[in-house]
Amino acid sequence: MEETQIEFHWRGCSRWLEKIMSRVVLFPHPGQGHITPMFQLANILHHTMGFAISIVYTQHNGPDISRHPHFNFHLISDPVTANDSPNIPFRGNPIKRFNDHCARPFKLCLDGILSSDTVRCIVTDAMLYSTQAVADELNIPRIVLRTAGVHSFVLYAAVPLLHQTGYLTNMEARAEEVIPEFPPIKLKDIPLFGDNDTNGKVETFSNIFTETKKCSALIFNTFEELESPDLAKLRRQLDMPVFAIGPFNKRFSAAETSMLKEDRSSIDWLDTQALESVLYVSFGSIAAMDKTTFLEVAWGLANSGQPFLWVIRPGSINGAASAASEMLPGEWAEEVSGRSCVVEWAPQEKVLAHSAVGGFWTHSGWNSTMESICEGVPMMCAPYFADQMINARWVSEVLRIAINLERVFTRRDVEEGIRRLMTTAEGAEMQRRVAALKETAAACLGSGGSSYEALESLSMFIMELG
Ligand code: UDX
Repeated sequence: MEETQIEFHWRGCSRWLEKIMSRVVLFPHPGQGHITPMFQLANILHHTMGFAISIVYTQHNGPDISRHPHFNFHLISDPVTANDSPNIPFRGNPIKRFNDHCARPFKLCLDGILSSDTVRCIVTDAMLYSTQAVADELNIPRIVLRTAGVHSFVLYAAVPLLHQTGYLTNMEARAEEVIPEFPPIKLKDIPLFGDNDTNGKVETFSNIFTETKKCSALIFNTFEELESPDLAKLRRQLDMPVFAIGPFNKRFSAAETSMLKEDRSSIDWLDTQALESVLYVSFGSIAAMDKTTFLEVAWGLANSGQPFLWVIRPGSINGAASAASEMLPGEWAEEVSGRSCVVEWAPQEKVLAHSAVGGFWTHSGWNSTMESICEGVPMMCAPYFADQMINARWVSEVLRIAINLERVFTRRDVEEGIRRLMTTAEGAEMQRRVAALKETAAACLGSGGSSYEALESLSMFIMELG
């Protein structure tokens, strides 16, 4: 080996050693839709970039540690949430409550890690705004992971100002009004709509954005080509790098962090169905509906005549004493016999990738939206809360790869939506558009692609921190 080659090789080795000895500490918000992308990011940082990983977690929705032997885990005390059932959103203002109580135990935990390890930076969920003060106090850089899309984050960031100027008053009477700065998003899509704690929620949005502005960098589970106008808008507002390194699920599966057991019989059933004939129906990990809506969903599916795979998660019907599937009337079961499969939790990524699936009726959670785009499956949306209404409006009116049923719908709306999505030229157009996005998503991860390049930049950025 020439001397210069040896030197080059040595520099490469020492950089690798430096990484192995550098630890990144991650702290997810304890909900399925937040834990999944944080663990996917942890795997990216570890397997793709070579960093050592520590995960801080709470008892509430704690991960199954045995599935991640390559990470260190640190449980912090969390008295406010300890009594909540698994995967049920906390009562009151959950984000504020969690932030008010997690900063001190998080700091004590970090003190312990720092006493034995070199911590390059912490990565915490955007919703965990109180971790910024901890990072500042300990003089550790904080990188924020925003687990949802850029377009909703840009809108969230504007909410305090919209509120201050009085624009958000009397929203109910102006529900259909398109917000001038954010077309096609309507007033009714803002998560404050219909909420009687407007001031509390505005304060939370304000805290999230103010503290994010103080961090070192921002990561999104998205890709440049999908959200370039909103990424450009956000970069103009923030004095820090914004890394779009998604789609995460194409690097590491969401199944690794699934809190419920996946029923794989759904795949066996899909194997018996015709190409692109099945509508997959799932409303994510938190959304719950009342019994009336549940029956509208059931009869809408039955009346559509389309084969369907429906995930009825335990706890997904408000106040139901018995299992949801037991609430389905006998005549309904007769009507859908031979063209339906009902499970409590499905291997969603595998379902969406299955050739029998031709459409996805979703609640428009960000992970589900990305997973659907990655598999080229057009959607029908029935959003429930948080960013879901914004996502639904965006996929239906900007990307035009979905039909939006809105938050309130009848069995007739369901039937008509399924017909449009699965059997018409309009649905076929949506399918073509989302198929093109699927290709773009795959290309951006390959060598020279936008997410590939952003990941390289992120790796260098972390190495230069501290
Ligand atoms: C929550 C919020 O609802 C959402 O708006 C926000 O963007 C993220 O946090 P959640 O309800 O968990 O999301 O939905 P989503 O983000 O779509 O995540 C659901 C995850 O559960 C997906 O990764 C999906 O693959 C998985 N899933 C869902 C299954 O593995 N099986 C199922 O049967 C249903």
